[in-house]
Amino acid sequence: MKIHFSSIALPNSGTLVVLVNDNAPLSEYAKQLDEKTQGALTRAIQVEQFSGKKNSLINIVAPANSELNRIVILGTGNGSDIDTQHAADTLVKQIETYQLTTITVLAEQEQQAAQFAYGLQLSNYRFDKYRTRSELQAKYLLTEAHLLTTNPEQAQALYAPLEAVAEGITITRDLVWEPANVVYPESFAEFCQKLAPYGLEIDVVNSQQMAELGMGALLGVGQGSMHESLMVILKYNGSNNDEAPVAFLGKGVTFDSGGLSLKPNSSMNTMKEDMGGAATVTGLMVALAKRQANVNAIGVLGLVENMPSDKAQRPSDVVTSMSGQTIEVMNTDAEGRLVLCDLMTYTQRTFKPKAMFDLATLTGAVLIALGEEIAGIFSNDDALSAQITAAGETEQESVWRLPMGGQFDRLLKSEIADMRNNGNKLRIGGSSVAAQFLYRFIENETPWVHIDIAGTAWTGEGLPNKPKGATGFGVRLLDRLVKEQFEA
Ligand code: BES
Ligand code: MG
Ligand code: ZN
Repeated sequence: MKIHFSSIALPNSGTLVVLVNDNAPLSEYAKQLDEKTQGALTRAIQVEQFSGKKNSLINIVAPANSELNRIVILGTGNGSDIDTQHAADTLVKQIETYQLTTITVLAEQEQQAAQFAYGLQLSNYRFDKYRTRSELQAKYLLTEAHLLTTNPEQAQALYAPLEAVAEGITITRDLVWEPANVVYPESFAEFCQKLAPYGLEIDVVNSQQMAELGMGALLGVGQGSMHESLMVILKYNGSNNDEAPVAFLGKGVTFDSGGLSLKPNSSMNTMKEDMGGAATVTGLMVALAKRQANVNAIGVLGLVENMPSDKAQRPSDVVTSMSGQTIEVMNTDAEGRLVLCDLMTYTQRTFKPKAMFDLATLTGAVLIALGEEIAGIFSNDDALSAQITAAGETEQESVWRLPMGGQFDRLLKSEIADMRNNGNKLRIGGSSVAAQFLYRFIENETPWVHIDIAGTAWTGEGLPNKPKGATGFGVRLLDRLVKEQFEA
């Protein structure tokens, strides 16, 4: 969708959307329109007892004395950034009914115009790539939105960084939507290599190089697959000094069959989403680069496919991680932590990050505990936890800190190796046990947050500004955190 900001001149055709904040009077321009249409707006507002509250709208068809097809009066709640984004979502939900592809929006205030455009971008999304029959495709998606605003240049400047984040989110969603026969380690890495024009430096580390590095835990996960396991490094140097970077690690299991600890079909058939962490990191790095964030950031993706075969690792195999610690793989379906632990060691030793975040669709238990709208976080750093929680509130991507501790760590005791990969008491504190496993790979007290997005990477029904399917959860959250805590 193309977004245009221009100065205010009321249109004579098409659909005009008028934003009205809760209990706010009509603006000068809205009043002009009201007069021209012989009071169409004020009468509709009265009849509908419209107050401008969030999620409310009035649709005035073919207003008198005007060539407009429709005037939509759209409630923007308290006019905050989030309420304005949600109002855009409410409008996008009507585009099929109203048969809209182009809209003009009276959004006088620049910040609101920019936020409305952002909300439109996030909501106006469908993954129709594989639908060849037109009746299965979305009939209406917005292709153009014209925002009428007092100072178009200023609105455009406010919108530019938001557009960058929206683009990152779209990339994340597309990657997650893609099926696993299309997105597998090699094709994911090829996709990443095309991101250089954003200002990213991309390195692909192949299996042989990972073997030389000693990444036996990650490689064990991928050894049953026809696809080669790969690690992708995305570098963004946005800070002109040589400050230590912030690191973002992503679980990129392009398909999680469970391996020889095979999943039942009912839980396997959603497992193309198991590269959601890597997709989120990719989208985030694009967002940071595109908006030219003043930060040094590193993205590290662990791309593997977890498959059963004669080459696959067996339950009870012992692997040696890059850290030197040995792991007894008692359940090949607890594979995400095996991928992440080697990424963690590699990242800490190579980049000495000032903070490290990992994103992973790691445990079904976090979906049970927190649902589809809240991600679980685990951390060794109280300040960082508080900061990411605050960023989540601002961006409406909530996170909730879950406990770590010795009682979970003890469940990782193995009969033969330094640890086992799953808890030895079935299903007890599953998300915390996984986090505790990862914590064993923290070196020199690197400030670290593990974000379990198994519940939030996908939405069955859709959420505000998150159409159903892949959500892109985490891009906004971490972009905000970077902006508030890591940019100079
Ligand atoms: N990829 C899954 C977790 C998952 C579940 C993601 C549902 C998204 C939605 C992960 O690899 C897994 O299988 N975890 C196991 C761990 C267990 C074997 C210790 C789980 O959660 O059951
Ligand atoms: Mg698994
Ligand atoms: Zn998995």
